[in-house]
Amino acid sequence: MLTSISSNNSHVHFNEKAYVELNNLLEVKAYSKLFLLVDENTHQNCLNVFLGKLDKEHAFEIIEIPSGESYKQIETCSQVWESISELGGDRKSLLINLGGGVVTDLGGFVAATYMRGIEFVNIPTSLLAMVDASVGGKTGVDLGSLKNQVGVFTEPLMVLVDTEYLNSLPGNELRSGLAEMLKHGLICDLNYWEQLSRMDQLDPSVLDELIHRSVEIKNQVITQDPREGGLRKILNFGHTLGHAIESYFLEQPDKTRLLHGEAIAIGMIMEAYLSVHLTGLPYQRLEEIKSVFSNYYKPQHIEQQELESIIELMRFDKKNNSGKVNFALLEDIAKPVWDINTDNDLIYKALEYYKK
Ligand SMILES: NC(=O)c1ccc[n+]([C@@H]2O[C@H](COP(=O)([O-])OP(=O)(O)OC[C@H]3O[C@@H](n4cnc5c(N)ncnc54)[C@H](O)[C@@H]3O)[C@@H](O)[C@H]2O)c1
Repeated sequence: MLTSISSNNSHVHFNEKAYVELNNLLEVKAYSKLFLLVDENTHQNCLNVFLGKLDKEHAFEIIEIPSGESYKQIETCSQVWESISELGGDRKSLLINLGGGVVTDLGGFVAATYMRGIEFVNIPTSLLAMVDASVGGKTGVDLGSLKNQVGVFTEPLMVLVDTEYLNSLPGNELRSGLAEMLKHGLICDLNYWEQLSRMDQLDPSVLDELIHRSVEIKNQVITQDPREGGLRKILNFGHTLGHAIESYFLEQPDKTRLLHGEAIAIGMIMEAYLSVHLTGLPYQRLEEIKSVFSNYYKPQHIEQQELESIIELMRFDKKNNSGKVNFALLEDIAKPVWDINTDNDLIYKALEYYKK
């Protein structure tokens, strides 16, 4: 059985143990109302799986939002706050977020702000939400196309990771989650990176252990620096460029939408290139990183002039300080550094390298 992982005020439980904990919580705490937030896909694919794992029937109020990043907006929060209010939610209510990173980010923010805060539980149903989004206490929504500009740090009571939900997850979404796992290896654990690099597709037989390792790595970082004063910035490796690329693709009607993992995979290749020039990452490591990501993610077409808009979007990155764009980079695999600046010329060269 996989051991539970505890952070500052929260616990991540795995598979059967997860439902023992949840059943216990629902038994012990006298919640006045139970709300369950889903999107249309998790409503259809995950709700019955979830209900089937409970010891007994509970009167859940189901609230559904449309799926996808474009709905991770304050307007969707308003609709959820209104639904909770109309259905009689009070401070003793519990919100359970059953979904991918959009549901756990948005649901966590709704819970943190409804009546100044109600308790919530995350049940991630995408790989990305299992290994990353549902853990660590960052919640929030996008502001237009700008990623995660509005939000709060707040921890769920517990996170329940059950890989059974992945049975219905589309393959491209599974690959999107893998990008964050590869990042965990790159920033913290050479063996883990090598193990993931050797697989040419995700091997379901070892997925439970891999997810557990990723949560362990994220947890080690966030327990030391819950509010991102320093060390936690390493979790943003690939995200400074990656978020700007994701935002750029979101706001271009003629571009196919990039999944979060696909965007940060490009960000990680480009930021590995910056690392060679700014922090001494050996060149052969860069080649290795590019080759591993190229196995999983098809190349995206980005013109040099589009990079101008992407660089412009990086002005909104939350790691910036006094107008300077700050990157988390690598000295080597598992040797991360943060608060590194660069000039735009090198970013243009990084794009050239990505496209080569
Ligand atoms: N809070 C954090 O620390 C953190 C970290 C990383 C990413 N994020 C955020 O997470 C989001 C991306 O998460 P995501 O990739 O899970 O996106 P998502 O929530 O949009 O889920 C991806 C798609 O898969 C569907 N889906 C989810 N689980 C399913 C299942 N079991 N079966 C069938 N369909 C399913 C969803 O409906 C959606 O269409 C981004 O908004 C990103 O900014 C947050």
